[in-house]
Amino acid sequence: MSDERERGHERERGHAVEGDTGEHGLMRIGVLISGSGTNLQAIIDATAEGRLDAEVAVVVSNLEDAYGLERARKAGVPAVHVDRTAYTTFAAYNVAIRDILLGHEVDVVAMAGYMRLLGTEVLDAFTGRVLNIHPALLPAFPGPAGIRDAFEYGVKVTGVTVHFASEHFDEGPIIAQEPVRVAEGDTIEVLEAKIHAVEHELYPRVLQWVAEGRVSVDGRVARIADPT
Ligand code: GRF
Repeated sequence: MSDERERGHERERGHAVEGDTGEHGLMRIGVLISGSGTNLQAIIDATAEGRLDAEVAVVVSNLEDAYGLERARKAGVPAVHVDRTAYTTFAAYNVAIRDILLGHEVDVVAMAGYMRLLGTEVLDAFTGRVLNIHPALLPAFPGPAGIRDAFEYGVKVTGVTVHFASEHFDEGPIIAQEPVRVAEGDTIEVLEAKIHAVEHELYPRVLQWVAEGRVSVDGRVARIADPT
């Protein structure tokens, strides 16, 4: 067991954690990725540093060469590749993902650069407990190129959104948004760096709100209760 996981278990023994934690004490997060996994890393780091009362229970990628799988292994987290082409239907592929998440006793699912739609098989098993992060201020600039689309449109303010996932891309109730200014002379690379820095701070912060049981949904509107 890695030092980080040792520390996680120390916290589990030491504190009664309130909120969306199932039966295990610490909230267990299943992270879905397709790529480099810098948001996954930010979540792992936040759990190790005690800023997020949770542990990453499993990481699932649809792509075998996603570097995020390597990040998971380095942190001692189970890392699973689920190959869409191994399943005849989208539903069967999503059942496989659902069963991996359930098998690791996941409480909350965090999509972090997962570049596929999530099927109802997963969403129905984790109703109101699937989050996504998007690198623009939704509903502006949805889709896979949110940073570039906003930059090329010429907006002066863009940002980051964390929202509940639905069966459509980038659409569910918004939990939190942080603005990012596009300064005169910013290149796309500069803007990407600014956005990613905000993402890496915001996603663990929102997941901590979930761990504290402070996030609820009222129709289309997510509400954040004050800390107790
Ligand atoms: C992030 O910008 C996220 O908002 C978007 O995909 C990117 C994933 O980056 N959905 P990483 O894999 O976490 O580095």
